[in-house]
Amino acid sequence: MKKIIAGSSSPSLAKNLSLEMNLPIANVTIKRFPDGECYVRLHEKMEEAIIVGNTYPDESIIELFLLQDAARKMGAEKISIVIPYYGYGRQDKIFEEGEAVSAEKIAKLIEQDADMIITVDPHKEYITKFFAVPAHICSAVEEIAHYFINKVDTILAPDKGAVERAKKAAEIIGCPFDYLEKKRLSGEEVEMKTKEMDVAGMKVLIIDDIISTGGTMAEAIKNLKRQGARNVFISCSHGLFVGNAIERIRKAGCDEIVSTDTVESIYSKISVAKPIANFL
Ligand code: R5P
Repeated sequence: MKKIIAGSSSPSLAKNLSLEMNLPIANVTIKRFPDGECYVRLHEKMEEAIIVGNTYPDESIIELFLLQDAARKMGAEKISIVIPYYGYGRQDKIFEEGEAVSAEKIAKLIEQDADMIITVDPHKEYITKFFAVPAHICSAVEEIAHYFINKVDTILAPDKGAVERAKKAAEIIGCPFDYLEKKRLSGEEVEMKTKEMDVAGMKVLIIDDIISTGGTMAEAIKNLKRQGARNVFISCSHGLFVGNAIERIRKAGCDEIVSTDTVESIYSKISVAKPIANFL
């Protein structure tokens, strides 16, 4: 029988996936030893396993390896790994000599006990090539667009690299789209170049793949408010909200923060269970 195994980072998404696919969730114990090491025990046999587990934060990576091992040992001949948020995905090439290609290394470790990988909106689509087993991408953009139908007048990407996402959402909603021009100053700080946008009096949605420190969104919101936007809503596939990200975003004047359940938080107002289930 095919069963879903829920990693501790994704209980709600695993539950939604089990409802969408009409599959049971396997009984599993996941806990930490006093020294922090992870312990995993599957309490039931299975022929096929769908493991839902992130590679963020770091502890989830070890947990995922152990869940893969336990699933094989409990009989799973086919293991599909759903990695809702592919952490380490942004270090996807050598930017400076001597660096590790983290996205590739993590893939090489996961593929050892996996037959198929599914991930959601990775930072760069080519990371799927790092896996020696078939790896597929699902997108949250359609779900995000449906959430904002009839709520916004225009959609913006915070930088040129994210414009395809904004375009796709705009096509579904039936509104215009554009992008801001971002320059990254450091890990936490960005600068938005002056670019005149036709946003006065409008309800604007900014859409990105990841919100980490909130620096990108905070600058984008301030920029749009300065140009007279009436409301600014922000949305992303993966809401990490590191440190004081929420405070920065709110202070900048954001009207609503919406992320999906790839990284579960109180801002996970949209589930990616449907696109994943459709694919599986
Ligand atoms: C970068 O290229 C990504 O698409 C996001 O814009 C970035 O990761 C957001 O990071 P932060 O919230 O720290 O500005």
